[in-house]
Amino acid sequence: MEFIWRNLPYLLLGAVETLKITCLAVSLGCVFGLIVGLGRLSRNRVIRFLSTCYVDFLRGTPLLVQIFIVYFGLPQLLEQLQSFLVESWGLPRLFTSTHIPAFAAAIIATSLNSGAYVAEIFRAGIQSIPKGQMEAARSLGMTYRQAMRYVILPQAVRNIIPPLGNEFIAMLKDTSLLSVIGIVELTRRGQIIIASTFRPFEIWLTVAFIYLILTLSISRLVDYWEKRLRVRT
Ligand code: ARG
Repeated sequence: MEFIWRNLPYLLLGAVETLKITCLAVSLGCVFGLIVGLGRLSRNRVIRFLSTCYVDFLRGTPLLVQIFIVYFGLPQLLEQLQSFLVESWGLPRLFTSTHIPAFAAAIIATSLNSGAYVAEIFRAGIQSIPKGQMEAARSLGMTYRQAMRYVILPQAVRNIIPPLGNEFIAMLKDTSLLSVIGIVELTRRGQIIIASTFRPFEIWLTVAFIYLILTLSISRLVDYWEKRLRVRT
């Protein structure tokens, strides 16, 4: 027990990092998600197709592979793009490093990924509002944008919050994958302690327990928020 207490502060710092990354990923994910989610509902076929590609690719491939693509693949792509511009257009070289910071890669990969899940959540939330609401708003002279902004989205929010909470919880656990590119979050800190103490059982159990406390608190918070929204109607 003493062993766990001694290492707890070090692990908790990792939990803070985990929370920070999750918040960033899901907030940016909401921005991408709203754009792509509305794109999936667009009347324009090209926009609909592109949005579907985005969602299919990011949900249909492992997050771990996406992290590798961004962290290891993107620098190579940037370098080749630069070489091409330098050789064919005679532009000056802007950067020499073939490396992007792990934190930037982490946020890019997780927020793009989260965006795909959030897009589906938004799309489902919007589609759950009866068609008559849009028709009524439009017949009052509102534009499509106004109807979305003032009539559909405020009602859809209620259906969106619970699955959005689930997405946050899922992302919180999935950020553990970022330990493979050297992000020192909760899981990575567990590995680091074990590397010098050789006591995997206690540490992994503690790490799991910290994740559990985080996910349970968030799900309670979301339940509470959801109930409050329901009372008002
Ligand atoms: N575990 C799944 C994967 O590896 C999903 C990851 C992303 N999860 C999320 N809620 N955005 O692909």
